[in-house]
Amino acid sequence: MHFITVKSYDELSRRAANLIAAQVNIKPNCVLGLATGSSPLGTYARLAELCAAGDVDFSAVTSVNLDEYVGLTGDNDQSYRYFMDHNLFSKVNIRPEATYVPSGVSADPVEEGKQYDALIESLGGIDLQLLGIGLDGHIGFNEPDDCFTKETHPVALDESTIDANARFFASRDDVPRQAVTMGMGAIMAARKVLLIANGQNKKEILEKAFFGPITPQVPASILQLHPDVTVIFSEN
Ligand code: GLP
Repeated sequence: MHFITVKSYDELSRRAANLIAAQVNIKPNCVLGLATGSSPLGTYARLAELCAAGDVDFSAVTSVNLDEYVGLTGDNDQSYRYFMDHNLFSKVNIRPEATYVPSGVSADPVEEGKQYDALIESLGGIDLQLLGIGLDGHIGFNEPDDCFTKETHPVALDESTIDANARFFASRDDVPRQAVTMGMGAIMAARKVLLIANGQNKKEILEKAFFGPITPQVPASILQLHPDVTVIFSEN
């Protein structure tokens, strides 16, 4: 594992964007696993700048996102599809039809999860998976549990996750209670993992996840078993 502590969110964003751009430049038709949350916003803005400057070309890239809230359609401005469209996909030259986000409105989320995993497999797996980390150690929306779940699956969100994500909604009551998330199978099969975390309040969970016991109670701790993980952390 490569654990990089940087001095500012701007530095974190530039470093993360550089790594993603390097991946795309090395393999123009790569599969990027992408994430939402506050942490990747600066990375996505920087990628848009690099793309506009001609330093990276997304025209052959395919993306698969980690997760989506149950009950939200892609035109809902709180959905992760909407987030990705507005913060990255519309700002770079990726083909819209090559961007995938799990559906939050499937009648059969378990079957939908199987299809999402089959899609990832048919793409040849993920070359680089970008992750954030929740305060409870979740990655994607893999919440603390008694076991790690391999498949893309529906999940009930923890109260702490609902609290943390309430800032994006008009009120806490508006935060969906369920989500669909990529499981640990596809994440751990990614050839490279890049986890970014920003803020003093992430320090404790990062220590637990990367230097503590490997346990499904701290879902990100499974990444200790991954052969190629880079963590970029900014306290500020
Ligand atoms: C959400 C997302 C996660 C993300 C987490 C942390 O819960 N589902 O994928 O890692 O938020 O977000 P932030 O980066 O805003 O702290």
